[in-house]
Amino acid sequence: MANEIKTEIREHVGIITLNRPEKLNALNYALMTQVIEALERFDADTNVRCMLIAGSERAFAAGADINEMADASMVEMHHRNMFGRWDRIKKIRKPIVAAVSGYALGGGCELMMCCDIVIASETARIGQPEINLGIIPGAGGTQRLIRAVGKARAMDLILTGRMITADEALAMGLVSRVVPAEQWFEEALKLCQELCEKAPMALQAGKDAVNSAFETTLTEGIEVEKKLFYMLFATDDQTEGMRAFVEKRKPVFVGR
Ligand code: CAA
Repeated sequence: MANEIKTEIREHVGIITLNRPEKLNALNYALMTQVIEALERFDADTNVRCMLIAGSERAFAAGADINEMADASMVEMHHRNMFGRWDRIKKIRKPIVAAVSGYALGGGCELMMCCDIVIASETARIGQPEINLGIIPGAGGTQRLIRAVGKARAMDLILTGRMITADEALAMGLVSRVVPAEQWFEEALKLCQELCEKAPMALQAGKDAVNSAFETTLTEGIEVEKKLFYMLFATDDQTEGMRAFVEKRKPVFVGR
């Protein structure tokens, strides 16, 4: 299988760079397999505290690879179950930051929405253009977009297939921050390094609690939050965090 991504660990940040720039990082089967396996590897590595997924300056990812699907029959698509594997991204416990420059379309937008914090360059162009191919989003786009931006805007994006700018995406709550074009990667990495200084167990509990809001009722979600909150009092990092506050010094978290 060709290397469709690059991976490295930089000071506790597991970095995944999508590496099909000539195809605008179209998400073919090999690339998505490698992304999911790298995320799982980083999640299991105690040296990694946070992950970063980046594309190139021109494209985060321009969608699922249309060439791989163009001639497939319904039965072939059913057997390939190409999006079944995406569910594994939901099981990643450490925070994932997306660094988005240029196009994040179709599956690219869906991959972006699987991440926890999205840093978008002012050049970002985001959308779900599947309607223009005679299909609809298939990797969670219809479900995650409505939760991120509400029904009126999700319908607009999914039924027209139009691309929106980074500022429009920020106003909708689809991305976390917009940064100047030349700083898209550095700003995302800086954010990851900031996350690496937090207590790892608290980061994971925070991610878990926020995500549970998507899956449960308010009452159940509040129960999940309470349990995770109390659980953190079994960690050395909670003791360190509160003691450091009282002693007016910076905490040093060790991940226990
Ligand atoms: N799949 C396969 N190849 C793609 C691709 C995709 N999604 N997007 C771009 N490419 C390829 C192009 O075919 C081209 O390759 P060649 O040089 O070999 O011809 C190369 O990337 C550069 O693309 P363009 O020449 O088209 O670049 P552009 O600047 O003129 O246009 C673009 C850029 C507007 C993003 C245009 O490439 C485009 O519309 N891409 C498709 C976007 C799309 O429809 N995405 C949804 C895919 S379906 C999906 O994602 C389903 C799902 O839910 C997961």
